[in-house]
Amino acid sequence: MKAKFIVFEGIDGSGKSTQASLLHKVLKEKNINSILTYEPTDKNHGKKIRDSFSGERFSKEEELRLFTLDRKEHLNEIIIPSLNHGKHVILDRYYYSTAAYQGASGFDYKDILKEQCDMFIKPDICFFLDIDINTSSKRIMENRGHKNAFEEINYLDKVYKIFKHINSDEIIHIDASKSQSTIHKNIIEIVFAIIN
Ligand code: ADP
Ligand code: TYD
Repeated sequence: MKAKFIVFEGIDGSGKSTQASLLHKVLKEKNINSILTYEPTDKNHGKKIRDSFSGERFSKEEELRLFTLDRKEHLNEIIIPSLNHGKHVILDRYYYSTAAYQGASGFDYKDILKEQCDMFIKPDICFFLDIDINTSSKRIMENRGHKNAFEEINYLDKVYKIFKHINSDEIIHIDASKSQSTIHKNIIEIVFAIIN
């Protein structure tokens, strides 16, 4: 059976990292080989982007270039080799984020999505954790006490609207305002249906 490529998407504070970790934990407990990883990564290009979170953002062109280079390296060095070795890959953010966030910075999100889909492999499932920006902002503040340069409310509103427009057969919409355990159960059912 082919290893599956499972992506979590949504705005900041939607609960992606929480759900990605919970899924990884269950697979580990069942001795099902998998890795949990995220974008932007902590490698060269990803690190450059992460360093800009607390300060001034790069130009939109430079951001798009860095996220894309980071993804290329991530796929070649981690994701594709893991899938080839039979490990399921759980990924926190992928090219849908580039369409939504860099789209909100002024690019045409459809152009970005098309370019990224032409360049990179398509996941088997993408869970889109759908939550309104006020609830997600509240969660970020409760969790971290401050926001980064990508989390300004007007910007996130644009990001959210683009996410809602992205349609593809691998995308599964999840109501992320529900409790962590309800969402987790829903995700587990869907994942086990495709890996068993
Ligand atoms: P993301 O990775 O999408 O930014 P996180 O998983 O880090 O989001 O969650 C952001 C905050 O919201 C954390 O404090 C987390 O504990 C909390 N959280 C996650 N899922 C839920 C949920 N379903 N209900 C309430 N709070 C949640
Ligand atoms: P991340 O660390 O996943 O943030 P969080 O855990 O708070 O959701 O991602 C960092 C930021 O990078 C996030 O605000 C979204 C942004 N981003 C883009 O703008 N483009 C991209 O292609 C990716 C992968 C992330």
